[in-house]
Amino acid sequence: VKIVHKASEFRDHLWGVQKQGFAVGFVPTMGALHEGHLSLIRRSKAENAVTVVSVFVNPTQFGPNEDFDRYPRDLERDAKLALSEKADFLYAPESPEIYRSGFSTYIEETALSRVLCGAHRPGHFRGVLTVVFRLFNLVRPDRAYFGRKDAQQLRLIEKMAEDLGLDVEIAACPTVRDPDGLAMSSRNAYLVEEERAVAPRIYGALRAAEAAFDAGERRSDRLVDLARAVLAACPSFSVQYLELRTWRDLAEADVVSERSVLAVAGVLGKTRLIDNVILDPTR
Ligand code: PAF
Repeated sequence: VKIVHKASEFRDHLWGVQKQGFAVGFVPTMGALHEGHLSLIRRSKAENAVTVVSVFVNPTQFGPNEDFDRYPRDLERDAKLALSEKADFLYAPESPEIYRSGFSTYIEETALSRVLCGAHRPGHFRGVLTVVFRLFNLVRPDRAYFGRKDAQQLRLIEKMAEDLGLDVEIAACPTVRDPDGLAMSSRNAYLVEEERAVAPRIYGALRAAEAAFDAGERRSDRLVDLARAVLAACPSFSVQYLELRTWRDLAEADVVSERSVLAVAGVLGKTRLIDNVILDPTR
């Protein structure tokens, strides 16, 4: 893996690869790489001639009282992990490469971004979409890989690509979990022992609803109630939302009649955690 700080250091190489008809895969991250990120790198390696992994802790997607300052940063460790997966470039831009001085243009989605996490983190998805668009423009990948754990982020990036006609394929990848079910996240590192011990109940709650769905339950309120009952047994997890919405439009529906997502967010101690399961009646 080659660590680069400027897109100009790899652009010509990637362009040469693409001119020969080969594809470039891109895995954008904020670093603190874990098995979830590594699974994205592996998939990109399998599907493309060259894989670029970016590490950039994007200031514009953090709210004023969020964890931008304490977000884990360890480029050397990230480089070792990227190397272990044989990524070709680890792109770690400095802020001015992404946000030039006087930067004042943002990408804002105005419908699907208003619910779920968007309702609790104003400006978050504006920051995410802006940085992803910016990174797409710097890397110019053929495919970009995102985890399903960040379901709304994934849907919004798909929507941005659809709405703005971006020439990049958005590849959705499965959530990677610890053996006890907790979805992997860089923020899990914040959890103290007792919090880590109860954290798997979040997925347990989603699984309870998923099991009922698999057994034929289609009423949204019943499915949400089942998950809520499991979470009620874990009072240290303060739920921000637990909602069932259609995947396409992130709209509420009384009955699950199309591909949908049951999504949860909440705070455990000081750590905000999210998770979701896809409920698909067409499967
Ligand atoms: O999912 C993340 O790590 C970030 O939101 C992303 C997509 C790299 C944008 O900063």
